Amino acid sequence: MLIEKFGRASALGVFLALLLGSCGDTAPPDALESGALSGDATAQSTADPWPRIDPAPLDPEVEAFVADLLSRMTLEERVGQVIQAELRSVTPEDIRRYHLGSVLNGGGSTPDNDKHASLEDWVEFADAFYDASMDTSDGKLAIPILWGSDAVHGHSNVYGATIFPHNIGLGAANDVELLREIGAATAIEMLATGLDWTFAPTLAVVRDDRWGRTYEGYSEDPRIVAAYATAIIEGLQGVPGTPEHLGEDKILATAKHYLGDGGTDGGRDQGNNIDHEEDLVRIHNAGYPSAIKAGVRSVMASFSSWQGQKVHGHRDLLTTALKDYMGFDGFVVGDWNAHGQVESCANDNCAPAFNAGMDMFMVPEDFRGLYDNLLAQVQEATISQARLDDAVTRILRVKKQAGLFEGGRPSSRPHAGKQEELGSAAHRELARRAVRQSLVLLKNNGPLLPLTPFSRVLVAGDGANDIGKQTGGWTLTWQGTGNSNEDFPGATSIYAGIRNAVEAAGGTVELDVGGNYEQRPDVAIVVFGEDPYAEFQGDAPNMLYEDEDGPDLALLRKLKENGIPVVSVFLSGRPMWINPHLNASEAFVAAWLPGSEGGGIADLLFQQADGSMPYDFTGRLGYSWPRTADQTPVNVGDSDYDPLFEYGFGLTLAESTETSMLSEETGLEGGAGASGNAYFANGRALTGFSAMLGGDPENLIIVQGLEIVSEGLSPSIMMADREVQGDSSLLQWRPGAPGYFAIRSDGGPLDLERESNGHLSLSLLMKPQRGPSKPVLAGMRDANGNSAQVDITPLLEDGDDWQHYRIALRCFAEGGVNMKEIAVPLELYTTDEAQLVLAEVRLATAAEGDSYCPEQ
Ligand code: BGC
Ligand code: BGC
Repeated sequence: MLIEKFGRASALGVFLALLLGSCGDTAPPDALESGALSGDATAQSTADPWPRIDPAPLDPEVEAFVADLLSRMTLEERVGQVIQAELRSVTPEDIRRYHLGSVLNGGGSTPDNDKHASLEDWVEFADAFYDASMDTSDGKLAIPILWGSDAVHGHSNVYGATIFPHNIGLGAANDVELLREIGAATAIEMLATGLDWTFAPTLAVVRDDRWGRTYEGYSEDPRIVAAYATAIIEGLQGVPGTPEHLGEDKILATAKHYLGDGGTDGGRDQGNNIDHEEDLVRIHNAGYPSAIKAGVRSVMASFSSWQGQKVHGHRDLLTTALKDYMGFDGFVVGDWNAHGQVESCANDNCAPAFNAGMDMFMVPEDFRGLYDNLLAQVQEATISQARLDDAVTRILRVKKQAGLFEGGRPSSRPHAGKQEELGSAAHRELARRAVRQSLVLLKNNGPLLPLTPFSRVLVAGDGANDIGKQTGGWTLTWQGTGNSNEDFPGATSIYAGIRNAVEAAGGTVELDVGGNYEQRPDVAIVVFGEDPYAEFQGDAPNMLYEDEDGPDLALLRKLKENGIPVVSVFLSGRPMWINPHLNASEAFVAAWLPGSEGGGIADLLFQQADGSMPYDFTGRLGYSWPRTADQTPVNVGDSDYDPLFEYGFGLTLAESTETSMLSEETGLEGGAGASGNAYFANGRALTGFSAMLGGDPENLIIVQGLEIVSEGLSPSIMMADREVQGDSSLLQWRPGAPGYFAIRSDGGPLDLERESNGHLSLSLLMKPQRGPSKPVLAGMRDANGNSAQVDITPLLEDGDDWQHYRIALRCFAEGGVNMKEIAVPLELYTTDEAQLVLAEVRLATAAEGDSYCPEQ
């Protein structure tokens, strides 16, 4: 098996033994006879690979309670149960009127839109929603509402909560018991806010690290995911059959995103998984049997498709495989408006998803329309009464099992409002331990580590004192952007952790992000890496961390040239190609996204004051590390497996390994490639896009390089300077000469439909230099030549300095352009004299600031 095939037998063997030791049958299920789901004639085998799981017997008392309740519910009440609306759009009055079964708060969504909402605020909202659901004054039944939230690394939308390392770090920690403890701690912090249900764990087995959600997965290895699923779910919900199960210290868990989310083609978020059925089951389904046996009460359907068909509309996957074969008796919740992407569906109208087996619609805003449509669809039998009753039964079963009918108002429950339980010292200590266990030592020449705390230490890099950066996406805001240290009371930055360790021993620490120093340091610790991102914003074109002339590399090289030994601490949501950075560092630690307890880093870098070293590195790669920037996918078990650092790799302090200089050839042809959400940067079109000019939108000429190739045209384009020479482009329209500037996608149209209903905007970093004398229109154009244009002249009147101009994507969607097929993500048009200097064009999130959309 694996262990013989790939070097480092000992490390890998120990790694898996540790992981799998305590949990019996996590091996992929045996193939079973009888027909497969895909009917794909090219599939490797015709045997049906799906596991069969005998469901645990249902509790007759629960079932009788549910059946009785259901029999007394009107059609309207039943329809309401299958709808989940979002905090920013829903009111208690809606819950009463539509008998809604559930609410969620999406990423970065908080009571009163206050990022610093207090425990009392959360509990107050929970009470208000609960009260509305229990109100019988209209003669309807009292059915407690369920509130779900993305507590994906701790209760991560909540101010003051403990933030654990993201799952990629936990995967490297090789410790199932740790997962159990983190689950239990997260449950308590959620209960303190009065909430019932987390949308976690993510059981994606991530196979292409370009995916922006790579860090939400534990590993590329299905066995780790299977072993962890059991532990985290039992930590959150309790062990089935024991008194603690779904008791007052526990919450409901969600296994997501079913199925195949980690295996989309090219690592594209919400993309298409093209695996054969065997691989779909063996790799991507690996966590679900464990989750179901651990009693997970909900499963979230994936935005992605399997072999071209959206999972939300996939009856074979949602009903036959999950419910019939694997015996899942909880309920399937949809993902954020994902049903709207099923063929012939809209956000407020989608019988096909429900008929395929999705039991609860996550329909943040359009729940009123959806309610009316569902009601009509049951009345006209597009949806059968039996299907509706099955979904409602499943939801009520879970509510009953969770004790909601007896639980009383959220504020009356044992943990509610307990400030001392949110971000408690014990939870923070646990998170700090998780950080220690997750760090992977990639290089330690000398050996430079461990450091003595009596030294003069320089701490540098923009990740050193930035808790927002070390916590990553899905933290306080959806994408994790826009957070500062003040947003994290009780947390410790990596720098603060180092300072505490060094100063306690009598050494000195200097912090300078740019790596400048007053007195020559003995050693520099440089903390750098990816800025926060989450779903689809984080998709990357390749594994390149930064260009040859990137700022972090320059910093490392400057220190190296000055003869200062460097320890690099790399923050990232995935392995990345960083060979030049490795070469410029004596020691190198992959720290992933460690969360709020940055002290865990210093724990492994420094000896104690008495010279002892209580800890060693135990983290091992749960993801293979790429040898070149284009080496993706690369996964343990590949026939041509040749990564830079193998799956299971990780040095200890005890080992004295010298790492030699590595090749600095990226392996990429034609530059760095375009990031999924940027089209134009530093004044030029990114790879995969062309900048174009001309008078006829169907017939523009491409401008290459930045020399003036456009004389006589309107607009013309020439190089301009923003911060450094030539990092922007001046567009000049001549008097009375109408014309377009456009950015075209060369690799085929872009699908921005998902982005357009997620509060994203098209962001232009631009400076109006002269004019305009006539309106300036910013537009998007689809593959059929339809364009939607927004008059941005009022924005340009605000001043003549550099600004981010953000236009809501929804504005283009409403303008009638087909967001699924955007051929030109930006065109600028005016008819008379104007001068605009443009540096950057990309998508931006709501957290970056308001966006513009005039009344139409
Ligand atoms: C994500 C889910 C998440 C949900 C609610 C979706 O966009 O894909 O993982 O649970 O939003 O925030
Ligand atoms: C996310 C939510 C988030 C929203 C912002 C969704 O895709 O899942 O959690 O709040 O977008 O618009």
